[in-house]
Amino acid sequence: MHNVIVNTDISKGKINKNIYGHFAEHLGRCIYEGIWVGEDSPIPNTKGIRNDVLAALKNIKVPVLRWPGGCFADEYHWKDGVGPREGRKRMVNTHWGGVVENNHFGTHEFLLLCELLECEPYICGNVGSGTVQEMSEWVEYMTFDGESPMANWRKENGREQPWKLKYFGVGNENWGCGGNMRPEYYADLYRRFQTYVRNYGDNKIYKIAGGANVDDYNWTEVLMKNAGWLMDGLSLHYYTIPGDFWLGKGSALDFEEGEWFITMKKALHMDELITKHSTIMDKYDPEKRVGMIIDEWGTWFDVEPGTNPGFLYQQNSIRDALVAGVHFNIFHNHADRVQMTNIAQTVNVLQAMILTEGEKMILTPTYHVFDMFKVHQEAEVLAVESAVGSYEMGGEALPQVTVSASKDAEGKVHVSLVNIDHAGEAEISLDLRGFAAESVQASGTILTADRMNAHNTFEQPDAVAPKSFDGANVEGGRLSVKLPPMSVVTLVIH
Ligand code: AHR
Repeated sequence: MHNVIVNTDISKGKINKNIYGHFAEHLGRCIYEGIWVGEDSPIPNTKGIRNDVLAALKNIKVPVLRWPGGCFADEYHWKDGVGPREGRKRMVNTHWGGVVENNHFGTHEFLLLCELLECEPYICGNVGSGTVQEMSEWVEYMTFDGESPMANWRKENGREQPWKLKYFGVGNENWGCGGNMRPEYYADLYRRFQTYVRNYGDNKIYKIAGGANVDDYNWTEVLMKNAGWLMDGLSLHYYTIPGDFWLGKGSALDFEEGEWFITMKKALHMDELITKHSTIMDKYDPEKRVGMIIDEWGTWFDVEPGTNPGFLYQQNSIRDALVAGVHFNIFHNHADRVQMTNIAQTVNVLQAMILTEGEKMILTPTYHVFDMFKVHQEAEVLAVESAVGSYEMGGEALPQVTVSASKDAEGKVHVSLVNIDHAGEAEISLDLRGFAAESVQASGTILTADRMNAHNTFEQPDAVAPKSFDGANVEGGRLSVKLPPMSVVTLVIH
């Protein structure tokens, strides 16, 4: 039996909706085919953006979208991606498969996508191979309302009014593909580049500095010490990789129990990373003004057999769904510092929400978790105390159940529970403190499967799909919940 107390009248602050953010890079079939098909495509589209993907993403209320990379950002030159499409420069995408990038999806197309999704754009600028002038002019091009070389060029290219742009990243992974820099050197470059990322009119930019890789705590220390007061956010990247990044990450579908366990263990590691990086940030920013921006996270497996190794295409199973649920529970419980996260990546790449094959599209188990958990966006995160039993394998133990809870503007309480055990049920006694015992009513939604690698295919698109949950019973003001093995549940309590 697992015991959980949800203090429904103790709020720990708001869950920033940007925790449910996404990331779409010029990588493999994410942008091209996955999002952009072009205006002349037989695939139904709105000004070149495919309608099925748009509708699916709107449904999960994507709050913010990061673009154009990733590693691609530090070799992207934005001027090549504006103006008439036929005349745009073609380049080699050296990071991702060495394919030709025709620059048909550029600044205008990305900002149109964000308008259609009604989400905030988050643009990542080029520090690694770009110049201060290039970055500064990009911001002028997008946001300056008036007479200036860049604003005039924007108007010539068909956009009279400036866009609103809030989130801007000053480089990506500058310790690696973004320039192989030392933190001291990048901190100085960050100070210099960000100076020229201007606020025009009432457009106020939230500046995000390139942050640490996994547990590089020294990077966070040096950045906060030398540039903390000049940033609004500092990023962190961490992927859940069951194997070894270079020697073999593990298959998305062909795995045994041991690999399932390791995947859960590595997903849970996010909690330690946030705690330790936050502790360093607290030293320089005790008011928690600077947001932790986890702008790349998710599973990273070996590519599907027979696909281009540079395209990072992987299937997505109930295991991915649990990884997503575990992450969201962690993010909610760190909502005081975590202001945004962006799963990698939206379509056809890594832990995707959506997979496409030509005109066909399917939703992944991960998509369904985003759908089930969207009720937490902008809700008050509630104080939760839990004493949960363990999930054990090979002498190691993990907490079998993870949990988070929030209260929305209408006073509805949502509790999200994840049972990471591949074989064991979890019985939970949920004490809803602050709720009148006699009036408690609960209903819910569950995502589960009977095989560890259950997944959706173009032939069976709904093999893993949410169902209504009838495993919650009210007894004397306590809620008893029975979770099947490998399940994600969201309860609504009125
Ligand atoms: O998401 C794939 C890649 O992973 C990104 O381009 C890069 O930033 C990270 O290493």
